[in-house]
Amino acid sequence: MVAIRKKSGNLEILIRRAAIRKRVREVAQEITRDFQGKRVHLIGVLKGACIFLSDLVREIDLETSIDFIAVSSYGKNKESSGQVRVLKDLDSSIAGLNVILVEDILDTGLTLSYLLRILEQRRPKVLRVAALLDKPSRRVQQVEGDYIGFAIPDKFVVGYGLDCAERYRNLKDVSILTLSPDS
Ligand code: IMP
Ligand code: MG
Repeated sequence: MVAIRKKSGNLEILIRRAAIRKRVREVAQEITRDFQGKRVHLIGVLKGACIFLSDLVREIDLETSIDFIAVSSYGKNKESSGQVRVLKDLDSSIAGLNVILVEDILDTGLTLSYLLRILEQRRPKVLRVAALLDKPSRRVQQVEGDYIGFAIPDKFVVGYGLDCAERYRNLKDVSILTLSPDS
């Protein structure tokens, strides 16, 4: 009989939910300080940033508005190719707004540098970047986030919005995923 080998993932917690909650609050406080008395327009990069954005916006003590953009990489391989396609564009203009682009994770920086380029063309007043996670060692394009939750090592992580083939987004902690054959 042929054993069916199914891929399953091993999860090892990297950042616990309580640490995420505390850090999200701190990042929101930084944003609140930096934009005192102003309105901020948060743009979430779907789908990974949806959970981070939802928690972040509720901790910001300013007038806020939100929008979303969805992008995909053109490349054939799993690695980010830098060729990015907009799948869902913003609902409204960002001209003259204090925009914070909200990302789940900065990896090679290719997606972010593309997004910054197209958003700059739309003449926001200010354009900043908030990312829950940052893998600085993976950078191909020299871009930096203005508000970073956690710098992490070069490991594949899931949870708190981050996925592997659309799974694990609902996990409350951020965990390292290692794929192992399961028989
Ligand atoms: P890059 O910076 O263009 O390489 O791509 C960043 C995007 O790749 C992120 O927004 C995530 O969607 C995805 N990504 C990169 N690293 C991870 C990871 O460790 N887990 C889940 N998704 C990741
Ligand atoms: Mg993403």
